[in-house]
Amino acid sequence: MKLVKLIANLGYGSRKEVTAMFREGRITDPDGEVLYADDKVPHEHIRIDDEPLDPPAGMVIMMNKPLGATCSRKDMGRVVYDLLPPRYRVRDPALSTVGRLDRETSGLLLFTDDGALLHRIISPKAQVAKVYEATLASDLRGDETALFASGTMMLESENEPLEPAILQVLEPRRARLTLTEGRYHQARRMFAAVGNHVETLTRVSVGALTLDGLPPGEWRALEDHEIARIFATPTGD
Ligand code: URA
Repeated sequence: MKLVKLIANLGYGSRKEVTAMFREGRITDPDGEVLYADDKVPHEHIRIDDEPLDPPAGMVIMMNKPLGATCSRKDMGRVVYDLLPPRYRVRDPALSTVGRLDRETSGLLLFTDDGALLHRIISPKAQVAKVYEATLASDLRGDETALFASGTMMLESENEPLEPAILQVLEPRRARLTLTEGRYHQARRMFAAVGNHVETLTRVSVGALTLDGLPPGEWRALEDHEIARIFATPTGD
């Protein structure tokens, strides 16, 4: 792919604007040598204003989603894209969130521009475990683990039973819930169905991938070995 198109697709500007960036000498190699639009250069050797180029198409980002941000590109309030550089919103192919977390859910949120990968992560068939920690308004009754695991639990206004889910009771009002699907407000609705109410909800892992100390509101691009962890079995603790 021509350098102008490659850089424009990464959201740095229109082709016209990127052509102007070449003319202004802002696009260089790691030694500061000015690059030209027709040069053939490996992605990792391109610098814009001395900064490495964003990752190429096929990228996966992990964010520690803070409370109060919505998983959409545009909203009245704060959206998760506000935490990324503005050019990430206009990349081609588009960078999408891998499923959604509610505005009042925090924790591990993935983004990718790879549609097949996105589908593999969210499809219930792939059985990728999404683990949530919930604090609850009332003590657990004791029968929730068996009900959630049954594979027959129905949520209101749905006509397919939920896939079996694992509930691990940590304290009377704190639990870890492992889901392999992502229905609308699923965790909250499951606890509501057993007469409880979720007070806080955070996603702690997807497959064997954890936030690994990433602070709330921060994000980073994943390396290939980390992407592979999404499809590995969680070790649990
Ligand atoms: N379940 C919910 O209820 N909300 C989320 O954000 C994720 C899972």
